[in-house]
Amino acid sequence: MAKQTDDERFQKDLQALKFSAPLFIRLAWDCLVDVGAENLLKKGCDLKQLSSALNINNTDMLECMLDVLVGEGCLKYENTVYHYIRSPPNPPVVNVRWLKKNNPASMKWVDLCYSSAKNALHGRPADLVGFDKKVSVLLWDKMMEESPYSFRLFAIRKFAKDLPDSAVVLDFGGGGGIALENILKETTAKIFLEEFERSNEYLFLAKKRINDLFKKTKSDIIKENIRRMVFRNNFDISAVRDNTYDVIFMSLVLHHIPSTTRGNLLAELQRILKPGGKFVAYHFIHKSKFERNPIWLMYSVPTHQGYPFKDEYLNLLRKNFSSVEDHFGGLVTVAIK
Ligand SMILES: C[S@@+](CC[C@H](N)C(=O)[O-])C[C@H]1O[C@@H](n2cnc3c(N)ncnc32)[C@H](O)[C@@H]1O
Repeated sequence: MAKQTDDERFQKDLQALKFSAPLFIRLAWDCLVDVGAENLLKKGCDLKQLSSALNINNTDMLECMLDVLVGEGCLKYENTVYHYIRSPPNPPVVNVRWLKKNNPASMKWVDLCYSSAKNALHGRPADLVGFDKKVSVLLWDKMMEESPYSFRLFAIRKFAKDLPDSAVVLDFGGGGGIALENILKETTAKIFLEEFERSNEYLFLAKKRINDLFKKTKSDIIKENIRRMVFRNNFDISAVRDNTYDVIFMSLVLHHIPSTTRGNLLAELQRILKPGGKFVAYHFIHKSKFERNPIWLMYSVPTHQGYPFKDEYLNLLRKNFSSVEDHFGGLVTVAIK
C-alpha cells in the first residue's frame, strides 16, 4: 500500500511549507529593519536592550523573529547577545508565484499579518486575523483547506479507521468543521461526534459544512452519524465526567492556549478520555530555540501564545499518557491513556 505521504496532495502541502519558509525568514528581517533594529543588531545587543530601545512589548515575538534568523545563519547568538551577520535573501520569485497560485488564502493572510506585525511587536495584535469576525474566520477557513489539510488528514487517519461502534469523539477547537467532515468520511463505525468551538462565526461555518455534506452524501452511515452530532460553543472541561471520550482530536489549537496552562489542559483531556482512549493532536512546534518553526507572523493573531517546544510538549504528553507516538518531529502526536 502506498504511504499516505506519497500522494500528490501531500507532496503539494509539503512543498508549500518548504517554499514559504524563506518568505517568513525574509519578512522577519524586513520587519526588524522597519522597526529600527538593524543598527542595534550590527552593534550587537541582547533581547532586553533591543526591546527597550525599540519600545517593543511583545518580547516573545521579537525573540522568535531573532531566533529564526539565528537558525538561518543571518544573526549570531553569543552570551545572550544577537549580532548581525548577513541579510536573508529574497525568496525566489517563482516560489512566491507558486504559493500565490496554490495557496491564495494563506498568502492573503501573510499580507494581512505582515501589515500588522509592527503593531503586534508593540503589543497591539490585529483584530482582522482573529477568530471572532466573520471576514477573518472565512479567510482562516479557506486557509485551513490549503497546506494544513494533508497533515490534519494524516492525524485523523491515525484513529478514524479503528473506531468501534458507539465511539464518542471530540474535536476540540474544531473551527469550520474540516476535521469533522474528514472523520465522517474516514470511519465506517456508528459514532457520536462532537465539536467544541468557542467562536460562533466558526461554529456557523462548521454547521454549514456538515449540512452540505448531509445533502451531498449517499452514505447512510454518514447521514446517521451527522444526525447524532453535537456542536458546543461552550465547554466546561471540569464538569465533564471521567472516561467520557474514546478519542479527543485537536488540530492547530494548542498554540492558542497559554503555555502555563497547557499542562493542566492535557491532564484534563487525559482524565475525560476512556482508558485506552487516544488524544490525537496536530500543531506546529519549535524543534529547539534556534530550530524554530518560521511562521513568526502568527504573533499578529490576538490569541497566539507561541508554538510549543518539541521536548517540553512531548514531556508533558509523556507525563499524562501511557504511550506517545510522534510523526514529522512532533507535528502530529498520538497519545494513549
Ligand atoms: C487555526 S484554527 C484551527 C481550526 C481547526 N481545528 C482546524 O484544524 O481547521 C484555531 C482554533 O483554535 C480555537 N481556539 C483559540 N483559542 C482557544 C482556546 N483558548 N480554547 C479552545 N479553542 C481555542 C479557535 O477558535 C479556532 O477554532
